[in-house]
Amino acid sequence: MRKPRFIAEQGRQPSGLLGQIVARVMAKETAGENDFALKLLQLQPEDAVLEIGCGHGETLAKCANVVSRGILRGIDFSPVMHRHAMRRHRRLVAEKRIEFHLGSSDQLPFDDETFNRAFAVHTIYFWKTPLDHLAEACRVLNPGGRFVLGFRPAEDPGFRATYPSEIYHIRPEAEVVQLAEDAGFESIDLRRHTRGKARISFLLAQKKEGRQTEAVPVRS
Ligand SMILES: C[S@@+](CC[C@H](N)C(=O)[O-])C[C@H]1O[C@@H](n2cnc3c(N)ncnc32)[C@H](O)[C@@H]1O
Repeated sequence: MRKPRFIAEQGRQPSGLLGQIVARVMAKETAGENDFALKLLQLQPEDAVLEIGCGHGETLAKCANVVSRGILRGIDFSPVMHRHAMRRHRRLVAEKRIEFHLGSSDQLPFDDETFNRAFAVHTIYFWKTPLDHLAEACRVLNPGGRFVLGFRPAEDPGFRATYPSEIYHIRPEAEVVQLAEDAGFESIDLRRHTRGKARISFLLAQKKEGRQTEAVPVRS
C-alpha cells in the first residue's frame, strides 16, 4: 500500500512529535542493514568515520565499540533527529568520542580528506542532485578511503509501489554506480542484503588514489 505523503516526509526529514517517534522506530527497523554496512566498512580502532544522514545516531554509536582511538562524525539536516541523537548518545558526545552535526550533506562542514571511512544508509533517495552530495562525500575522504552507500534500488518493485516518487527518488543500481564513478570513486562493487521482502543494495567503493580535491568556490 502506498504510504501517505506526510509519512514519506517523515522519512525524508523527521519533524515534530511524530519525528521523535520515527527516530525510535527507524533505529530498530534499519538496524540489520546498518550492521551490514558496518561489516563492509571493516572498521579499525584508529579510523576516522563519517555517517551521512545519521538520523538517530545508533549506527555511529555502534562504531564507537570498535573505533576507540579515531574520530566519529555524523551529519543530519533534521533538527529533531539531531536533538534525539545528541540526547540519546550524550555520554559518547560528552566524552568527545562522537560529534553530531546539524547540516546538509551537499555542504559538509569538514575539511578535505578528513576521513578514511564514510557511509550513508537510506539517504540517497532524498538527494535531488545526488552528484553534489556524493562529490562532497568524496571530497572529505582520503584517497583510497572506503565509502559504503546502502539503498533500496528501483529493481525492488515493492519500494517503488510504496513510496511517493515526488519525495523518494528511487534509482536503479546502474545509475547509482555511474553517479559514484562521476563523483570520483573507483573499485566500485555492489553487495545485496534483504529485510523480509525488501531488497537493499550496498555500493562499496573507494576514493580514487591520486585524485586531487578540486577547489570549491567559497559559498556566501
Ligand atoms: C530514512 S532516514 C535514515 C536514517 C539512518 N541512516 C538509518 O538508516 O536508519 C534518512 C535520514 O537522512 C536525513 N537526510 C535526508 N537528506 C539529508 C541531507 N541532504 N543532509 C543531511 N541529512 C539528510 C534525514 O533527516 C533522515 O534522518
